[in-house]
Formats: sequence, structure tokens, C-alpha cells
Amino acid sequence: MSTRYRPPAEARVYVPAPGEASDVELMPAGDVTEGVVRVGGTIRRPHQPQSLAVAGYLDWLEDAGFDGAPRYLGRDVEGRDVLTFLPGQCAGPVPEAWVQSEELLASVARLLRRLHTASAGFLPDTHAFPPRYIPPRAVRQDPAELVCHLDVTPQNVVVRDGLAAGLVDFDLAGPSTALRDSYNTAMHWTPLRDPADVWPGWEGVDPFRRLRIFADAYGWDQDERRRVPGLGIEAAALSYERMRHNAATLGGGWARMWDDGVGELILRRRGWLEANAEQLVAALTE
Ligand SMILES: Nc1ncnc2c1ncn2[C@@H]1O[C@H](COP(=O)(O)OP(=O)(O)O)[C@@H](O)[C@H]1O
Ligand SMILES: [Mg+2]
Repeated sequence: MSTRYRPPAEARVYVPAPGEASDVELMPAGDVTEGVVRVGGTIRRPHQPQSLAVAGYLDWLEDAGFDGAPRYLGRDVEGRDVLTFLPGQCAGPVPEAWVQSEELLASVARLLRRLHTASAGFLPDTHAFPPRYIPPRAVRQDPAELVCHLDVTPQNVVVRDGLAAGLVDFDLAGPSTALRDSYNTAMHWTPLRDPADVWPGWEGVDPFRRLRIFADAYGWDQDERRRVPGLGIEAAALSYERMRHNAATLGGGWARMWDDGVGELILRRRGWLEANAEQLVAALTE
């Protein structure tokens, strides 16, 4: 446990130290947040409704000794959130060939397992996470619930020396379960998609083999492995509803993704999971 003094997240003001590096670099755009920049050794992001809830979670992770997440340093004079910059490389919007590395895939699973271990016991208190699902539900609906990342895409993992070293972009963090977060991560990293939606350059990649590598490295038990297709089908249905809701109510990047056909892609994924359920379980258990 760290004993470093930290003011409460809402009172934390970021004042650069004299002589601190202040070179500015625009970060590659993700799907939603506009204007993420690196300033010296920090990241500046627009303040969000969930920023303080996320800050409480990042504080907890720091105290738990988890080194794979940014620290919340406070808000700068422009009101932006300031986080530590994690050096390394993140995938672009269409993940590059190097993202296919199986060693990297296994390291993502291990990093996520460490995140989940470090997250155990954290209960959001002062600042609630906004509800992710439609309709909104109670925070502690399932005794297995755990606050976790829930958006571990290739674009949100920092890679160093070919291995996953950090997670960024905790905007969707909130209460879920370790199994759902690990399924979601595997879905993004395998990836589990209809062949029609495979990224250019990823045509030769075997999703069954990659899912097994993830499962072994994360440590899904036999029961969890058998639940994966059903969980994926349910997650696709929820994700479809959530994306549609966010596109209609929040607009911005959500509406852009919807107009680009993400809803259809999710439905095709669900169909692919249904058609391949048995083969997926076989790949995971035999
Ligand atoms: N703390 C950080 N350390 C290093 N790189 C970061 C950090 N935060 C964001 N980035 C980089 O900026 C990109 C966009 O930021 P992100 O927080 O993911 O916004 P979005 O919500 O748009 O996806 C990320 O994909 C990553 O490349
Ligand atoms: Mg992102």
C-alpha cells in the first residue's frame, strides 16, 4: 500500500513543476474522445462526467501496486484531466500486422488478469460510474461484480518490447464481472468477428487458435470456457442496444460509429458466434 498523500480527486489541481517538459503532440484519434494530447510526460483529455469516478479507481489501482494504468494527476488550468503518459506503442484504428503477435496476445491476457486481481475490493463511493447498460441497473446486482476496464481494445493497450505494458482510456470502466471484461478483451483481440468484417491484413488469422491462447493465458476455467459463446451472444445484444442508445442520446463519435454500420457489424458477430458456438467450445476445451 502506498502512503503518498493525494488530495481528493475533485480538489486535485495539476501545476507543472518548474522546467517540466511541455512539448505538445496530438494523440491518434480514438472513436469517441476528441482532443487527446500529450504534453511532456502527461496526457490531457477533456473532462468527462465519469472522470472523478475513474480517478478514484485509478487511485485504488495505484495503491494496490498495479503499474499498468495511468495516474490521475488532477485538472490543468484549462480544466482538462491530466494523466501520466505511458510510453510505448498503441495500435492504430486498423490494427497493424505487429498486433497479431501471439506473445502480445498472451501478455494482454496476463495484464488483464493482474488488473482484475488489483481491482478486487474496490467499491465506487463518492462518485458513481454512469450506468453502461440499458435499462440502468443496480451497482451490486451480481455478487461476482468487480469494477474493471471494459474497453481493452488494441488501441487502448500500450505495448513495450512487444508485450502489453499498460491500459489507457478508462472512460467505460465500471462494475461488471471479470468474465465479462475478459470476454470483451478476447473479443477485441482475437478478434471475434464475422469473416466479412476481418481487418485488412488479418485474413489468415485463426480466431479459434487465438481465443485458446487468450483463455490459457488469462486462466478461464472449464466452466467459463463453456459459457463463452452464450456470453458473447448476450454481450452482442447488449452492445447493439447500448451503441444505438449512445448514438441517439450522446451523438458525436457514437453517432459516427453507428452511421458507419457498427450495429450491423455487431449483429453479424452475433450470427457468427451462434453458427460457431460448438467449434468455439471445442477449441477452448479440447
Ligand atoms: N495515458 C496514456 N499514455 C499513453 N498514451 C495514451 C494515454 N492516453 C491515451 N493515449 C493515446 O491516445 C489515444 C487516444 O486516447 P484515448 O484515451 O484512448 O481516447 P478515445 O476515447 O478517443 O479512444 C490512445 O489510443 C493512445 O494511443
Ligand atoms: Mg481509446
